Amino acid sequence: MTTGLKRRTNNIMSFHYKDGYLYCEELKVKDIQEQVPYSPFYLYSLAQLETNYAAYQKALEGLDSIIGYAIKANNNLNLLKRLSALGSGAVLVSGNELKVSLAAGFDLKRTILNGNGKTLEELSLAVEHGVLINIDSEFDLAHIQQTAKHLDKPADVLIRINPDVDPGVHPYVSTGMKNSKFGIRNERLDWFLNEIRKDNLLNLVGVHCHLGSTIKEVRIFRDATEIMVAFMRAIQAEGFSARYLNIGGGLGIDYERTGEEIPTPSDLIDSIRDLLPEDITLIIEPGRSLVGNTSVFVNRVTGVKTNGNKHFIVTDGSMSELIRPSLYDAYQHIQFIEPVDGVAETYDIVGPVCESSDFLGKGRVLPTPYEGTGLVVCDAGAYCHAMSSNYNLKMRPPEYLVDGDSLTCIRRVETLDDYLRVFDV
Ligand code: LLP
Repeated sequence: MTTGLKRRTNNIMSFHYKDGYLYCEELKVKDIQEQVPYSPFYLYSLAQLETNYAAYQKALEGLDSIIGYAIKANNNLNLLKRLSALGSGAVLVSGNELKVSLAAGFDLKRTILNGNGKTLEELSLAVEHGVLINIDSEFDLAHIQQTAKHLDKPADVLIRINPDVDPGVHPYVSTGMKNSKFGIRNERLDWFLNEIRKDNLLNLVGVHCHLGSTIKEVRIFRDATEIMVAFMRAIQAEGFSARYLNIGGGLGIDYERTGEEIPTPSDLIDSIRDLLPEDITLIIEPGRSLVGNTSVFVNRVTGVKTNGNKHFIVTDGSMSELIRPSLYDAYQHIQFIEPVDGVAETYDIVGPVCESSDFLGKGRVLPTPYEGTGLVVCDAGAYCHAMSSNYNLKMRPPEYLVDGDSLTCIRRVETLDDYLRVFDV
């Protein structure tokens, strides 16, 4: 399905510099900052989103497959509508994500519900809409059985396996090891198969795994795929016509910008192509690698200060709007959007939130900016707005989308009235 991709080929210029100014496609980010009535804000490039999706489509050419976009990475309804229009499926981790994916127009037959703690309400929604459901544990299977029986509707299920292949990433984003809170105990597979066999409302249609996130070595996916194919074969040998091989998401992106080679979707798929049995549908669940580099988080410098031997750039954006550096010690590149000629210093870039864990970047060598200078945190499209909060009563920031030379607000800023409304009880 290539609808919507006709305008784009390679060599799109999503974020780039011209004469010292950062551009998003054809628009100068400084001009956008002056025009947008709120700071900080998120700014997206539609061309980058379409290019990223096209890269997955190209990678999967010749394979029966579903691209299941992991909605948790970025749940902006307008972006979801773009992805569903491109033909993407969706990967869900809550009932609300299911409802939002309906609103965004996703084909729910091409969506998968994941989770180690799915509630009966969430499972009911999934069964009603024919969503593929991953079995995560003994109790999760019991809940799925209970739901299918209650609704008297069949449910298509996959078993979530932990391949126990170390993804070599931050422990918080490693999810496929033996001791993970996700997935079944592999040695109990036979028990699961027997339970499913006894239940005429459950159809076992495949196996699922998700190793973790920010993975930069395709060998890890290959090792896991080998294991998953063996599980699939074992299940088929037990008489189940399992058709879906779901290898999850997790491909990393180039946050560090050091020139390191980051595998592309084609590198990933090519690395496992020869392992794939002919009669299967491959499901992949990319989040970060579809949306991560589509956005920058645009801030204004509030001031510059020095304490002891530390220099600080204080921005209006903070851990409330972008928590990855504080939570995972994650590196996201930071740069100015306009020429700055002050003396270079080593700066921590910090927000106004009242705790020392509030930083966007540490130890960055940058020229000393002025008050009001525009600064961006790069690669902010995945797990940034989606993980933002109202901590310190900061409002979740607005989001803007650039398409060529046009700018659209795709989410307004939250207001204090939005906050106060929940107390109208
Ligand atoms: N499928 C499952 C079952 C997942 O748990 C995840 C992400 C994905 C797919 C998508 O993974 P991706 O392609 O985006 O790596 N908040 C963290 C990331 C947590 C990812 C959790 N699971 C961060 O900011 O780095």
